[in-house]
Amino acid sequence: MDLFEYQARDLFEAHGVPVPRGIVARTPDEADQAANSLGTPVTVVKAQVKTGGRGKAGGVKVVRSPRDARQAAETILGMDIKGHTVRQVMVAEGIDIAEEYYFSLLVDRAERRWLAMCSTQGGMDIETLAVERPEALARIAVDPRVGIDAAKAAEIVAAAGFAEADRDQVADVLVKLGAVFVAEDATLVEVNPLVKTGSGAILAADGKITLDDNADFRHPGHAGLKDIAATDSLELAAAERDLNYVKLDGNVGIIGNGAGLVMSTLDVVAYAGADLPGQPKPANFLDIGGGASAQVMADGLGIILSDPQVRSVFVNVFGGITACDEVANGIKQALTVLGDQATRPIVVRLDGNAVVQGRAILADYAHPRVRLAETMDDGARQAAELAADQTQADDVSKEA
Ligand SMILES: Nc1ncnc2c1ncn2[C@@H]1O[C@H](COP(=O)(O)OP(=O)(O)OP(=O)(O)O)[C@@H](O)[C@H]1O
Ligand SMILES: [Mg+2]
Repeated sequence: MDLFEYQARDLFEAHGVPVPRGIVARTPDEADQAANSLGTPVTVVKAQVKTGGRGKAGGVKVVRSPRDARQAAETILGMDIKGHTVRQVMVAEGIDIAEEYYFSLLVDRAERRWLAMCSTQGGMDIETLAVERPEALARIAVDPRVGIDAAKAAEIVAAAGFAEADRDQVADVLVKLGAVFVAEDATLVEVNPLVKTGSGAILAADGKITLDDNADFRHPGHAGLKDIAATDSLELAAAERDLNYVKLDGNVGIIGNGAGLVMSTLDVVAYAGADLPGQPKPANFLDIGGGASAQVMADGLGIILSDPQVRSVFVNVFGGITACDEVANGIKQALTVLGDQATRPIVVRLDGNAVVQGRAILADYAHPRVRLAETMDDGARQAAELAADQTQADDVSKEA
């Protein structure tokens, strides 16, 4: 998960990295109040989007009064920066910048270690610097078992060519940034610019952090950093139920067991839909996993049927560890709970473990919306055709 700059700022502060004060604002009013409460003669209003190049896009404005902060926020909020809508700004204390440096620490997978990059030529265009003057960007390997200790930090600042007088102070900040990387289970910590102020202090004036989601279990606090506004509501509901669900933009709901089977189901459905009117396509990826219980199946079906784009559903299960009777019971359970809300046809293809029992359960249930398919291809074709029919029927009823 990538963090917003203001979240990175907060984490830096929590770990003792020197940062300018900053307050997040979601409206021009809040920006005005934030600038007021910072109380500095100069503040900087900064777009909070998870992409680079904000300054160049006009998303960073230096202002001299709370009124101007309000105006800057009015301009920046709602701005589109490389496809990201600005929903919040950070109002930061204006700093008197004497020099701008660059520092990053990341996981170097190819080399199975970490990589620190550092330059005395920081600021907006580090990518250009890396290409045009690679010698100005020091690249130092970091042993993950050691991290950035005092010796490593000294090596980095020397390689980057910092002035003798600045080395100790910068090295001290690098040790703290290395500690953030370890303590928060980050895969990237980047500061651009790391600045020296007119009075000689070193501050992280911009921060990017990517957290390793695989370590979430160690960090209950990280859940609160998630950008709920940008997450699809169905994906949120699925995540709450521990389902492997990804929203896609088609209209055939898909449920299967095992990522490989679900992926091929997506392909087969897209293929079956290619020649049909409206070209039905998969509406989602949903893997109920191995050994799924009836409850998991019911949760999954419930989520898919609540997607307004879904016109038909294809349940494609090959029972290995997963037993087809559990799947059939899950379908029953979901449809009983949903009642009249389950308005879309559901094509079910079951095979493998307990297939006879599974099919028998659904045959007895005899729900008007459920139909059984013999094979995966047959099921995909039926589901795609039903989606095409339903879309036409919906269009007709809309016109009427
Ligand atoms: N608090 C601040 N006070 C004074 N100047 C600042 C402050 N924050 C940023 N700046 C100036 O604005 C420039 C751009 O800011 P910043 O690095 O945060 O955005 P960016 O580089 O455009 O965005 P990104 O890093 O996402 O590409 C900085 O290089 C710095 O010169
Ligand atoms: Mg920057």
